[in-house]
Amino acid sequence: MKKIPLIIDCDPGVDDSYALALANSSELLDLIAITPVEGNVSSDLTRRNVLGLCDLLNIDCRVGFGAEKPLFNPWYRNAAGVHGSTGVGTVEFGEIKKQPDPQPAWEVIYEEAVRHSGELVLMAVGPLTNIATCLRLHPDLPKHLKRFIIMGGGTFGNVTNTSKTAEFNIWVDPLAASEVFSQLEVWMVGLNATHAAAVEMTDFDEMVAICGDAPGAYVLRELSAFSKKNCMENGHDNNVIHDALAVASLIDPEVVGFDHHYVYVEHSGDAPNFGQTVIDFDGTSGKAPNCHVAMRVDQPRFVRMLKDMCRWYAEK
Ligand code: BDR
Ligand code: CA
Repeated sequence: MKKIPLIIDCDPGVDDSYALALANSSELLDLIAITPVEGNVSSDLTRRNVLGLCDLLNIDCRVGFGAEKPLFNPWYRNAAGVHGSTGVGTVEFGEIKKQPDPQPAWEVIYEEAVRHSGELVLMAVGPLTNIATCLRLHPDLPKHLKRFIIMGGGTFGNVTNTSKTAEFNIWVDPLAASEVFSQLEVWMVGLNATHAAAVEMTDFDEMVAICGDAPGAYVLRELSAFSKKNCMENGHDNNVIHDALAVASLIDPEVVGFDHHYVYVEHSGDAPNFGQTVIDFDGTSGKAPNCHVAMRVDQPRFVRMLKDMCRWYAEK
């Protein structure tokens, strides 16, 4: 069976780490490159985290370093509160052996897209700065891709105090997101989908138990325990593993159901809904649909997939 060649552009990130682990464990996917971008934590940390995760998860692929700052308003903002000060919860790397590729993220993406002639799936689960940069340099990128999937946007937001309509990944770099949405057909796994797939605290307990003491399951044991701790500290009985749902949607099309709509990104700095993915549900814009919007989720199926992943690493 021919595996699907996949590049994941990400900003690890606890849920990014689950996403990388899930992609690496799938027999359907061939994770050929990872391209870190600044987002949840600063770019020096997202780069370090990707290299360290490659070591610990035994991921053998290109790592092309990406943007150090968003295209729009490059002030530093992060989500270290959610992901821990290093971005990957309690995971520790020790001495990192994995080396980055000499090419930057946007060249790795373009080279691999051309090399795989229409078969490559590009997935972005962080701010879209690297993808927009790639499109600026290589406007013919879209014709070389099989599919472009993001975790980002959705029907509501999560950037508290500043915007209730924007989702973090889009809000960090709305200019990049706007350029990407206007050039690429997007499969958008947004907050409405990821929240519908929230993982229960008891499931994290089970994941920790499945990982046991197995050295190969170290990363997932730490991540699962960290996710559970987050639930408790926030007074919730579940936690959202956003980015892994985007990977799950590719592995098993039954996990997420999509509807086709026109979507644009509000990127005007003074707009109250700055960073929102505005979805034309009823077609009033008259514009052709450009985005497959995730609207339905099979939560039990997703959680089963996460547990199977833990088993896979524990038995390695
Ligand atoms: C997204 O923002 C980040 O904090 C997560 O890694 C995820 O990609 C959710 O809004
Ligand atoms: Ca992310």
